[in-house]
Amino acid sequence: MSQTPTLALRDGLATNQAMDALTTAILDQKVRVVDTGILHLESCRRLGELLLEARAQLPHHGGGWFAYLDEVGIQQDRAQNYMTLARNSEDLRSLPEDLTVTAAIAHIRSQRQQAGMLARQADVAQAEWTGLPDTAEIWQADATDTGLADGAVHGLIVFSPPYSVGLTYESIEDCNWQLYAERVRSWCRELWRIAGDQTRVAVNVANDVWDQQEDCPRDLEHLWKACLYAVGFSYRCTIDWIDGNGQRNGRGSHAFGSVDSANAPHVLNPTERVIVVYKGAWNLRRHQEHDLDREARLAWLLGVWNIPGEHRAQRGHPAPFPEELVRRLVLLYTYPGDTVYDPFCGSGTAPCVAHQLGRRAWGSDAWPLAVQLSQQRLAA
Ligand SMILES: C[S@@+](CC[C@H](N)C(=O)[O-])C[C@H]1O[C@@H](n2cnc3c(N)ncnc32)[C@H](O)[C@@H]1O
Repeated sequence: MSQTPTLALRDGLATNQAMDALTTAILDQKVRVVDTGILHLESCRRLGELLLEARAQLPHHGGGWFAYLDEVGIQQDRAQNYMTLARNSEDLRSLPEDLTVTAAIAHIRSQRQQAGMLARQADVAQAEWTGLPDTAEIWQADATDTGLADGAVHGLIVFSPPYSVGLTYESIEDCNWQLYAERVRSWCRELWRIAGDQTRVAVNVANDVWDQQEDCPRDLEHLWKACLYAVGFSYRCTIDWIDGNGQRNGRGSHAFGSVDSANAPHVLNPTERVIVVYKGAWNLRRHQEHDLDREARLAWLLGVWNIPGEHRAQRGHPAPFPEELVRRLVLLYTYPGDTVYDPFCGSGTAPCVAHQLGRRAWGSDAWPLAVQLSQQRLAA
C-alpha cells in the first residue's frame, strides 16, 4: 500500500466519466485518495454506488470494511454519507446540483422524518380515545382567543410559537412578516389577559427567521421581546438552547451566503432562545416544598442549555420541542400543583411533561390534529 499514489478528490472531477474512472481506480486500490469532502453532489452519489458495490464484494478483497476504507483513503463518516446518497438517488433529483453533501443528507433525513410523521399522525387519528387525567385539559383554540378567564393561569405559560414564515401547518395560514408581527402582538395581549399575578412566561423562539417573501433575515427574538414588553410583561432572562442534534441546518447550499467573498456572507447561529418574562413581582415568596434538587438547579441556572432536539417522526408533528427543555423550565419556575399552560401545544410536549411532574396541565392549539396528538399523548 505504501507504493500506491495519493490523489486529492476535488471539484474538478465532477463529470461522471472522470469520476467513474477515478472511483474504479480507488476501489481497485490503484490510487489512494485524500478525501477533501468538497466533491460535486452527483460525484459523491456515484462514489457511494461504487462503495456499496465494493462492500458487497468485500470478501474478495479480504480484510474488514473499515480497513478497506482506510486503505483507499475515504473517511468512514464520509463513506456513510456517500452511500446514503446512493441509496436515496430518487430524493436527490429535485435538489439543486450545487448543494453540499451535508445539506443533501439533511434533506434526505428530513424526507424520512416527514414520512414517519405522517405515519404517526395516521395512527393517532385512528386510535381509541381513553380520556384525560383529571388535572389535565386540552382544547382547540386560536391563541388570540384561548377561551380562558382573565388571570386564569397561575404558574407558567410555556410555548414555542409558529413562525408562520416558511413553516406551514395544515389549516394554519402562512403569512408575511408584517402580518406575523400583528399576530404576535395579539397573542401577547391574550397572554397578558390570561396570566395571573406572578405568572411566568417562557417563550422558545429561534433567534432569527428567514423571510421568504423579502428574502432577508428577520429578528424574531427582538419582535417577541418587544411585543411582550409592550403589553406589560417584565423581562427576567434569556436562556440559550443549543440543539445537540443540529436541527437548525439553515437553507442548504445558500445558507452561508457568499462563502468565498465578503460580498454577502450570512452567519448562522445554531442556537435558539427561551425568553423568560413575568407578570407582577418576580419573587413568589411562597414557603412550599419544591421538587428540584439543588445540584440540578445550580446547573440549570447557568443559562446555556445543551439539549438534543426532538424527532418529528416520533411525535407526529413538524416542530416539537424536547421534553427536557420543558422539564427544566417547569421544575425551575413552578411548584407542584401550579398550572402549566401551552397555547401552541402541538404534539402536547408541555402538558405531558407538566402532568408527569404533578402540575395542572393545560394545552390548546388551533390545529385539530395537534389537539388529537396532545390528547393521545397525555392519555397514554
Ligand atoms: C412550534 S409548534 C409547537 C410545537 C409544540 N411545542 C410541541 O412540542 O409539539 C406551533 C404550534 O402552533 C400551532 N398554531 C399555529 N397558529 C396558531 C394559532 N393562531 N393559535 C394556536 N395555535 C396555533 C400550530 O398548529 C403548531 O402546532
